[in-house]
Amino acid sequence: MELLEQIKEKAHQLQKRIVLAEGTELRTLKATEIILREKLAKIILLGNPQIIKGIANEEGIDISGAEIIDPMTDAKRAPYAEIMVEIRKGKGLTIPEALVALNNPLVFGPMMIKAGDADGEIAGAINSTGDVLRPALQYVKTMPGVSVVSGVFFMLFNNKTVGDNGILVFADCAVMPNPDERQLAEIAVTTAKTARAIANIEPRVAMLSFSTKGSANHEMVTKVANATQIAREMDPDLMIDGELQLDAALSEEVGLLKSPGSKVAGRANVLVFPGLEAANIGYKLVQRLAGAEAIGPVLQGMAAPVNDLSRGCSVSDIVNMVAITATQAE
Ligand code: ACO
Repeated sequence: MELLEQIKEKAHQLQKRIVLAEGTELRTLKATEIILREKLAKIILLGNPQIIKGIANEEGIDISGAEIIDPMTDAKRAPYAEIMVEIRKGKGLTIPEALVALNNPLVFGPMMIKAGDADGEIAGAINSTGDVLRPALQYVKTMPGVSVVSGVFFMLFNNKTVGDNGILVFADCAVMPNPDERQLAEIAVTTAKTARAIANIEPRVAMLSFSTKGSANHEMVTKVANATQIAREMDPDLMIDGELQLDAALSEEVGLLKSPGSKVAGRANVLVFPGLEAANIGYKLVQRLAGAEAIGPVLQGMAAPVNDLSRGCSVSDIVNMVAITATQAE
């Protein structure tokens, strides 16, 4: 079964409550109809109910199975404001400030998760990555033992000899502009877990650089080599190697030559890039030039799943992301 079908089947079994914070956005409403019809999740739309229902009626979209919550008037505003103040008491947040912040669905959504009223949230069809992520980072926070939220892409290739049955996992393509060596190590360990949990892949993690095993000498190379060592200490069972150039990671011939005896070189299925620039450009290159399907960014490391859409997303991208988010909420 293809990866997305597997994910949808799991989402269907789980029936998680997913908040779509951009409830007045047309693609979001079209996706809601499909999600409800396919029973992939329970959907909570945020926004003014009259406006949301008006758009749905005008466009002939059936969203009758969705719950609609208005962040401006909902009865949970007061208790959510109290939780917010408790979380950010060190930053001096007051109740009136929290109540104003809750007018924003991008804050209200994470607070629903924090209060146990929802299992996951998705936004980003009309908001920037930073605006979606900031309140989630501030209120949902990271899962125990993780300090860094990061984002992976599942790159799906028609050629099934690539990676693991045509799947490569790339990280961090979405969040941390310039991770230090400890953060990079954490990203590697977390990405391996995500690869296992979502795609059922036994991870072989390549820590990418412009150098293989000391072939170049630079602080950027040292960072990746040190991160590899730290990741090994964090998860001694993890199959990980670095620093590796991309060809050493993916080509058996080059891997054998440049990192002999490695369990990963030439056979990597998880690629951890040294920073956001390389990762973000890298996944787009592979998507545009190699024609791979890019599923993501799937955010990882958060205490509960919050995912960010691209502003150019399609209706089916939203449907897929709801299924992925539901799976992460397990
Ligand atoms: N993991 C965990 N917590 C984090 C992380 C992280 N990766 N980054 C920031 N935080 C926390 C901070 O500690 C801070 O907490 P606090 O308010 O309790 O002190 C809070 O989140 C806000 O952080 P700031 O650094 O103040 O906020 P800022 O908005 O500057 O940065 C952000 C956070 C938005 C994630 C930023 O790093 C960013 O913009 N990253 C790039 C996102 C992006 O543009 N990606 C590319 C597009 S996506 C794509 O193409 C697929």
